[in-house]
Amino acid sequence: MIAMQKARVLAATENAIAEAAAILRAGGLVAFSTETVYGLGADATRDEAVARIFAAKGRPHFNPLIVHVSSLEEAEKFGIFPPQARYLAESFWPGPLTLVVKKRGRVALSPLVTAGLETVALRVPDHEVAQRLLQTAKLPIAAPSANRSGHVSATAAKHVAADFGSSVDLILDSGPCRAGIESSIVSFEGESPMLLRPGAIAREDMEALAGKMITAQSGAKPTAPGMLPSHYAPRARLRLNATVAETGEALLAFGPGAPKGENVLNLSPSGNVIEAAANLFAYLRRLDATGATSIAVMPIPAGGLGEAINDRLRRAAAPRDKS
Ligand code: TXA
Ligand code: MG
Repeated sequence: MIAMQKARVLAATENAIAEAAAILRAGGLVAFSTETVYGLGADATRDEAVARIFAAKGRPHFNPLIVHVSSLEEAEKFGIFPPQARYLAESFWPGPLTLVVKKRGRVALSPLVTAGLETVALRVPDHEVAQRLLQTAKLPIAAPSANRSGHVSATAAKHVAADFGSSVDLILDSGPCRAGIESSIVSFEGESPMLLRPGAIAREDMEALAGKMITAQSGAKPTAPGMLPSHYAPRARLRLNATVAETGEALLAFGPGAPKGENVLNLSPSGNVIEAAANLFAYLRRLDATGATSIAVMPIPAGGLGEAINDRLRRAAAPRDKS
């Protein structure tokens, strides 16, 4: 294999953000931090720019992208918000919530962003760098997680560099992501809100405000291919609900009293799912780098962010039909 050209990485200073904004305005690709994971951003209004995201990620074109904007007011230029959706937006934006709503007619978005759907996924991120970038570029930014399609998401600039090399024009480094797991996605396409992807906002917290949400059936409809059965996968196989590692296995541990040792990383020694979510993808990448052929994973509780963690682990463990 030919070695990848190295990525250009800059600390996310005001100057670097200004340069990143100029790159976006010229149709380039910029990776930047959000509070959830790093995003691979491009001008959402330009076909060629958005096409570069799909090419760099190796992402199938039927899989639509999230449009990042600076405020609910901006979001309403692109989507039609029913009252319940507006209520969730007002409660959780800026923050790790993505809302799928009906797309407004004749919006300036590239049709590639929405993969030809009548709906659009919108999010107002709560990270200073993401916000500064949106305000400086003055563009809606289409940004999937900054990982190769199907691979583990990136929660640090070095993860992005490892996946993409110079196929990204610039990586803005602002350290590890706070939440470490992607935004929760709620769709308002149907009668009642549907949780398409559990994420960094616990279902319980949203349901307390918006009432019960239907859960999307995995693989039922290709509307949220982050819901594809195999996704978020390291090179190594995953073995779920393990209590110990077998010979040659690495161990992704959880909670107090978990085994310790070489090739063992504990997501949260105190048993906190918020801490576990923040460590999940970085630890999967680190255990993968040990060269182990299999990673044993201890059980994670189901409540709060545990729902999102277990969702990602199930997909990471699912049989893969291609690389
Ligand atoms: O936290 C996040 O959401 C991160 C950061 C960068 O914002 N982004 C992210 O994007 O996770 P991505 O592309 O990896 O996952 C977005 C998911 C995909 O599963 C996609 O199928 C779904 O959102 N999606 C996008 N538009 C949709 C739509 N109109 N209807 C249903 N699902 C949609
Ligand atoms: Mg992703």
